[in-house]
Amino acid sequence: MPDAIDLLKSRRSVKPADLTGPGPSAAEIDNLLTIASRVPDHGKLAPWRFIVFAGAGRLEAGKRIAAVFRDGHPDATAEQIEFERQRLARAPLVVAVVSRAGPHVKIPEWEQQLSAGAAAMNLANAAHALGFAANWITEWYAYDRRVLDALGLAPHERIAGFIHIGKPARPPEERARPALADIVTRFGE
Ligand SMILES: Cc1cc2nc3c(=O)[nH]c(=O)nc-3n(C[C@H](O)[C@H](O)[C@H](O)COP(=O)(O)O)c2cc1C
Repeated sequence: MPDAIDLLKSRRSVKPADLTGPGPSAAEIDNLLTIASRVPDHGKLAPWRFIVFAGAGRLEAGKRIAAVFRDGHPDATAEQIEFERQRLARAPLVVAVVSRAGPHVKIPEWEQQLSAGAAAMNLANAAHALGFAANWITEWYAYDRRVLDALGLAPHERIAGFIHIGKPARPPEERARPALADIVTRFGE
């Protein structure tokens, strides 16, 4: 078992088409979501929630995404519509991290949104620690109100990310990271 620091240093996103089965078991999904909800949360508001897309639920959601796409693209080919129908079926598991941030007497909305980002990141790291890979994506349907309605989001709710999870078909390549010299200053030096 690699130690925690090695895990954090080795995580990489793997694109949905390269995420294969088997996906996490029901117990592993519960474990992933427990870790995703263990994040800093000013005011203990739980300003996020999770929607699990697994099995047939992925294609049911895809049908709704494809219907909205077809409405906006009357000239779409059958192939394009099928691609939209498969959007959430590329990986064995997709978890939508939904931000429920809103106005609050004490806690800034910005901090509630950041907490949803932390939940998404914890989920991606937990997937990696369990031997899976993840990809945090949004794509067009995360920003289309008709899709959000069709997936059951309330009017004030937003998608922080659709976290795609599965087994990596091949080991991911490293990508360049910012040099610390470009992103770090030491105050007072
Ligand atoms: C909020 C958010 C939304 C994202 N949406 C997309 C997306 O729609 N499509 C995409 O290719 N990458 C998207 N990304 C980027 C990928 O998650 C990922 O950062 C990128 O592939 C680099 O991989 P890494 O995790 O190995 O650094 C998004 C990232 C964030 C934080």
